[in-house]
Amino acid sequence: MAETKVIGVIGSGQMGSGIAQLAAVRGIDVWLHDSDPVALSRATKTITASIQRLVSKGHLSREVGNDALRRLRYASNLEEFHSADVIIEAIVESEDIKKKLFSDLDKIAKVSAVLASNTSSISITRLASVTNRPNQVIGMHFMNPPPIMKLVEIVRGADTSDETFVTIKSLAERLGKTVICSQDYPGFIVNRILMPMINEAFFALYTGVATKEDIDTGMKLGTNHPMGPLELADFIGLDVCLSILKVLHAGLGDTKYIPCPLLVQYVDAGRLGKKRGIGVYNYQKVAEAVKP
Ligand code: NAI
Repeated sequence: MAETKVIGVIGSGQMGSGIAQLAAVRGIDVWLHDSDPVALSRATKTITASIQRLVSKGHLSREVGNDALRRLRYASNLEEFHSADVIIEAIVESEDIKKKLFSDLDKIAKVSAVLASNTSSISITRLASVTNRPNQVIGMHFMNPPPIMKLVEIVRGADTSDETFVTIKSLAERLGKTVICSQDYPGFIVNRILMPMINEAFFALYTGVATKEDIDTGMKLGTNHPMGPLELADFIGLDVCLSILKVLHAGLGDTKYIPCPLLVQYVDAGRLGKKRGIGVYNYQKVAEAVKP
């Protein structure tokens, strides 16, 4: 198995920019692309500022920081991705859009390249089915934020080869992560268990059981979670949570996965969580809660 020297990351939102930063800091050359030039330019600034902050706080040496900044390259098209050994897709959680990208990547990527998806819930087997290399397609599910969270959930599609698994496991370990392995069923391990809890928290808020603050405090102090479920949903992105619940419901058929109407309404209203400044809570005015 050849060592991964160059990775491509597609989607420069919360997850893609974090994965790109982490890989560059760990000495891997990175191409980062987003179809939205504004998102790509925002990511350039965020990643640069984040690395500079880590250096100024003494968490990274100046040499490592400068080296990471040199290793990061931003691409406005996908052609540059031909040099990548591993391409990690971190675009919007939509099966149709991801399939179109995987089909394009299959034509652009070098023959030996592994195509990985950071999807939270979408079938790796179905993404692989639109390529001519299903044995080299795999799920590499980072947690948010990727530079900090210790876990990577690796998801094996029906045809994922052992060699592909070993390549991605060793890449994840080089990035300092602990790996768990899931079979390719909706929501995999983490979101299959987490999303019903978040949905139930929305139902508790929707039916007036308690305030959002009490629901979150109850779960933080009552079950020793670092964040309450509503706060966590805002952090993940309410659009991402809604997409995952829809995948769980469609794939497993159980009515317990039907998304709470309040979650649907927030997404319809553009209240997508922290990334938009407003979700269950309002982040534009510090500490001021928004009425449900
Ligand atoms: P985000 O909304 O912050 O970023 C998505 C980015 O993808 C946007 O910048 C958008 O312009 C770009 N994009 C959309 N379509 C594209 C295309 N066809 N080609 C190139 N770029 C495209 O989303 P986020 O939160 O970073 O999520 C990305 C993926 O990671 C999703 O699959 C999500 O389920 C998964 N994920 C999200 C986590 C979270 O906590 N937000 C945690 C783990 C996985």
